Amino acid sequence: MPDHSDALVLFGASGDLAHKKILPALYKMTWRGNLDVPVIGVALSNWDRDKFIEHARDAVAQHVGAVDEAVFTQFASLLEYIDGDYRDKQTFQNLRDLLGSASHPLYYLAIPPSMFEQVTENLDTSACAECARVVIEKPFGRDLDSAKKLNADLARVFPESNIFRIDHYLGKETTLNFLFFRFANAFLEPIWNRNYISSVQITMAENFGVQGRGKFYEESGCIRDVIQNHMMQVVAYLAEEPPAAGAPDAMRDARSKVLHAIRPMSPDDLVRGQFRGYRKEPGVAHDSRVETFAAVRLYIDSWRWGGVPFYIRSGKCLPVTATEVFVMLKRPPQALFGDLYMPQGDNYVRFRLSPDIATAIGALAKRSGSADTDQVELLVGRNPDPEEMEAYERLLWMAMQGESTLFARQDAVEAAWRVVDPILNTSTPLYEYEQNTWGPREADHIVINGGWHNPEATPSSVPEKERK
Ligand code: BG6
Repeated sequence: MPDHSDALVLFGASGDLAHKKILPALYKMTWRGNLDVPVIGVALSNWDRDKFIEHARDAVAQHVGAVDEAVFTQFASLLEYIDGDYRDKQTFQNLRDLLGSASHPLYYLAIPPSMFEQVTENLDTSACAECARVVIEKPFGRDLDSAKKLNADLARVFPESNIFRIDHYLGKETTLNFLFFRFANAFLEPIWNRNYISSVQITMAENFGVQGRGKFYEESGCIRDVIQNHMMQVVAYLAEEPPAAGAPDAMRDARSKVLHAIRPMSPDDLVRGQFRGYRKEPGVAHDSRVETFAAVRLYIDSWRWGGVPFYIRSGKCLPVTATEVFVMLKRPPQALFGDLYMPQGDNYVRFRLSPDIATAIGALAKRSGSADTDQVELLVGRNPDPEEMEAYERLLWMAMQGESTLFARQDAVEAAWRVVDPILNTSTPLYEYEQNTWGPREADHIVINGGWHNPEATPSSVPEKERK
């Protein structure tokens, strides 16, 4: 059993990610009784400990809701702060002193990737890295070559078993929901293959723009921001082979294996779009060719999936914020009850990942009093419970226990880069689209048969009559 981390050090303590996700997650861990070790914030912001605590309170108030004073007092008692430059050896000396007797610290690098190498090197030379774990945030590189270099830099200081690459889609309640649905039941497995499935669609739609992150987005674009990582991990959960029970690292082996089987995409498998108005966003070049929308088609070269197209689409400023997986089943061999064909197909499995959680099976049923059929959905759904663990809380808690199942392993990250590497070049065509639409029309050509399934805005777990 690996040792539990006995201190957590947050580099980038004054940054956006710490405010939005990490500090709220740490507060929730305290509330749940899962955090009782020192939390040391590090940043160069001219702050002191009181200012860090004030910042943490603000983060909790904004992103969790009402602050429970008793819980917050307990959380604040764990907080320490070091103001310092990541390039300065003194910062790390101060850190070593403050860590005191902590012998298994966990370092969270919520900092720009360009700083990773310097920080890990300084952790090493200041004797802070021994028996330590490190958590790093995506993007894990900019392409396959830089991902390899990043992995090599990290490997010089930390063994792979102590490196935790966070992709929060691996730890979401909703993505874990379909992993459970696949492997906790026996009825899906016999049809979960090319013999019964005709195509798979994943849409991750956001009805907002880049929200002040123009500078970040200019270096990233939709493919690097969500397709190479979040969407590839969703594909891995959907398409992986059943993991060998009990084998060490079986879950990560299964994900890695399927990612390795994805054929590298060609520019013909891609349509890129940019919403009208993006170039006026702060931090965005007036002639930017960065995509805010991407639709791609990919194939998994395996016995299970040979020939089944996987369609993935994601974009900013689309009509709704919703993520859905739509697994289309083949039609029955005979149309006994007339021509059943519907553009989207008649039988499907639909997983709704956000904003609500739903699992639905689309089927045809007899229309009452008629010889016709009706399309019906067998639906299980719910809205997220505000008390349930959000991805960041779950993943941080797991990293502190040294449990790496839900983190991305080096080989899987590199496999995902290998898939998108051929389409990263921004010289591929870029189509402008109006805000509040489903992206450029050209994206329709990505889907070979039947067109895109557009997720609804209203939670599908809410009964029809209660919808607006
Ligand atoms: C982040 C991306 O990783 O994921 C954002 O950088 C995106 O651009 C976000 O909006 C989506 O996460 P979620 O959990 O809200 O679907």
